[in-house]
Amino acid sequence: METSDCINTRATVREYDTKEISDDIIKDLIAAATRAPSSGNVQDWEFVIVKTPEGKKALASAAFEQSFIERSPVVVVACANLEASARAYGERGKSLYSIQNVSAAVENMLLAAWDKGIGGCWVGAFSEDAVRDAVVMPTETRPLALITLGYPANRPPASRREPVEDVIHWETF
Ligand SMILES: Cc1cc2nc3c(=O)[nH]c(=O)nc-3n(C[C@H](O)[C@H](O)[C@H](O)COP(=O)(O)O)c2cc1C
Repeated sequence: METSDCINTRATVREYDTKEISDDIIKDLIAAATRAPSSGNVQDWEFVIVKTPEGKKALASAAFEQSFIERSPVVVVACANLEASARAYGERGKSLYSIQNVSAAVENMLLAAWDKGIGGCWVGAFSEDAVRDAVVMPTETRPLALITLGYPANRPPASRREPVEDVIHWETF
């Protein structure tokens, strides 16, 4: 798919076909995530792949019972390795760059998935402690996003955007 088509047609998908995503494809998606830029190339990201019904149930519960999470074939917990973030850039690395780095990786993952006919949803509403417990995370890591993935049950249209003219500022705000 053309990059511009991939960007312009991508849409959040919350309902999935039962078809499995192979581990090779999951690895390809994580590889695409790791091609994202990161501050000083610190690559302070970690990804936990959850496929078991119990694991997905725990994540749905951590995400305030967003039940589509449980019905998704795969959930990726995208985490920041804060030790690595701080080592490179101190407090700014830990509190800001880590979020930007992992977010760039997540968007890469979603676009790479879309290119392969796989849909996903970026889930940000969750209890960090509950996600930590669910996937047994070390203390120096922070869960930043849950990404559900699966072959779409149907293909939703791309959602509306505000006109570019409303958000662009030339030279000064
Ligand atoms: C930081 C962030 C947090 C989000 N959290 C949730 C969420 O908790 N649950 C959900 O169903 N969708 C969530 N979404 C998906 C958005 O609702 C969706 O991206 C938005 O409505 C635009 O739709 P589109 O992705 O189809 O363009 C989140 C997206 C982002 C970027």
